[in-house]
Amino acid sequence: MDRIKVAIIGCGSISDIYMTNITSGKFQILELVACSDLAVDRMQASAEKFGIMAMTLDEICADPEIQMVINLTTPAAHYPINKQALLAGKHVFSEKMIAVDLWQGKELVQIANEKGLHLGVAPDTFLGASVQTAKYIVESGIIGKPLSCRASISRDYAVYGEFLTHLYKKGAGIGFDMGGYYLTALAAILGPCKAVSAFTNINEPVRTNTRIGTPWYGQEYEIEVPNVLTATMQYASGVLGTLHMNSDCILDETYGLEIYGTDGILYMGNPNEFGDRVYIRKVNGEKVEFPLTHGYAENSRGLGAAEMAWSIVAGRNHRASKEMAYHVFELMHGIMLSSENGAVYQMESTFETPKGLPAGYIGDGGWTRKEESALI
Ligand SMILES: NC(=O)c1ccc[n+]([C@@H]2O[C@H](COP(=O)([O-])OP(=O)(O)OC[C@H]3O[C@@H](n4cnc5c(N)ncnc54)[C@H](O)[C@@H]3O)[C@@H](O)[C@H]2O)c1
Repeated sequence: MDRIKVAIIGCGSISDIYMTNITSGKFQILELVACSDLAVDRMQASAEKFGIMAMTLDEICADPEIQMVINLTTPAAHYPINKQALLAGKHVFSEKMIAVDLWQGKELVQIANEKGLHLGVAPDTFLGASVQTAKYIVESGIIGKPLSCRASISRDYAVYGEFLTHLYKKGAGIGFDMGGYYLTALAAILGPCKAVSAFTNINEPVRTNTRIGTPWYGQEYEIEVPNVLTATMQYASGVLGTLHMNSDCILDETYGLEIYGTDGILYMGNPNEFGDRVYIRKVNGEKVEFPLTHGYAENSRGLGAAEMAWSIVAGRNHRASKEMAYHVFELMHGIMLSSENGAVYQMESTFETPKGLPAGYIGDGGWTRKEESALI
């Protein structure tokens, strides 16, 4: 079997599950050989734990054996690292979002196209059992013709943002940090958006850090990005949707993601997870749980990179595509621009809706017949 040698940049909070999943053989197509971080202690700890090399980004880019870079750094570092790796001829899988500014995302897509390289972008939760089951339900006609959708998330960002400080900075905020899960799940099922209109607020922009035990405790900080936003979307298919996001909520996390069709209603689980429960309601019927039709219900971070590696070997396009990621990125920028300008934002980009993974795709770490069929 051809395996793709991969290096991970960024050994922070999310890196452990990526490294565990890859080195445990869950994604046998990937061979993790190196990691890198500006924080040398973190880099060395990860290298030791997973038995891989600690290398600088320059060393990784210069190593002809390493074919793919997985970028798990904070958003502001996505663009420069993605760009350097692509220019060095590496395939890149980046954590969300693809970049911070729109022009940066556009440039990365262009470089990947010019160099004939794969560029994939998280979230990859849409490849998990939950969203793939929801996609199967819609594509099988079980809820009839989709007419409208509703996405809502509220979080208490003080819980996260006071130690993951990038969450309050440009490039993140609840829109760019969490919006991607909801808008990508909808994009993977409903396809591209045509237009969006929105309002956003920054509630209480200047605050004091209350997280005891962080170096920032007691310091004043500024919330640079909206923490309350509402939007209405018009999808190219004609579906109309609403988005509600609030990271200044009293609750740690509440979520909702629903698609309303002519013959039924689909209630998807939390799109930040791989295998949350999916429910449907038919005309005159009760809300019932729909059994998950797909695999990868457990925490499968790295699945998008693995699916991209399968696609490289098979010579096809991967599902967590740069085009869909850029579209979702543009949509979130469109929400900010619509709010700033008081006008409807017309989307410029589009993408091909990714094919669903084969149903019954178990992904138990073995190289099964079903996995081989997913190469196609
Ligand atoms: N934490 C989560 O639960 C979670 C979940 C899903 C996705 N993500 C995404 O993963 C990414 C990382 O998030 P995190 O929570 O792990 O952040 P983190 O701050 O815990 O880790 C980021 C790491 O990147 C390193 N880094 C920053 N700039 C760098 C550079 N130029 N070169 C090398 N290393 C650099 C930092 O030193 C740090 O160790 C973000 O895009 C985030 O949206 C995080």
